[in-house]
Amino acid sequence: MKRVLGVTALVMMSVTFGACGAKEDTQPTPPEVEAQIAERITPPGEVVAQGATAQASSGGARSAEEIYQAKCSTCHASGVAGAPKLGDVEAWKPRIDKGMDTLYASAINGFLGMPPKGLCMDCSDAELKDTVDYMVENSR
Ligand code: HEC
Repeated sequence: MKRVLGVTALVMMSVTFGACGAKEDTQPTPPEVEAQIAERITPPGEVVAQGATAQASSGGARSAEEIYQAKCSTCHASGVAGAPKLGDVEAWKPRIDKGMDTLYASAINGFLGMPPKGLCMDCSDAELKDTVDYMVENSR
């Protein structure tokens, strides 16, 4: 019995070492291949960085629609947590009836399930008002 175990252990060891050996046998990546990989990896990274810079620098010139699409649509496109959907006249009617100033205040300060600034933390009050106007105009 002991012998059988011993043999089994030996076999397992040789399999394990065999696998390791095989790994060690693989050639290191040749420099020219590494250069190619680096070449393929770098450009998208640069594009992402450029994109982020472009977005940040255009911060002041966002349209209400852009803000809606980027921030508010997360909840207002599908009606998350009871958010009135863009274009849902029935859902917006009682809210519009409260008056635009109330809606602006809800957007800026939050209202029940509606988080303050609609989670657009870098939105100015003016931008939030414009975005409310945009949402209301498209929901009457
Ligand atoms: C995390 C989800 C979420 C996001 C993001 C969000 N909203 Fe809302 N919003 C809600 C919910 C939920 C309600 C409904 C609140 C209620 O009446 O219970 C709501 C309601 C509103 C209302 C009506 C408030 C009222 O007084 O009836 C306005 C206006 C509004 N949102 C504007 C915006 C704007 C503008 C943005 C983007 C800058 C935005 N929301 C982003 C969830 C969200």
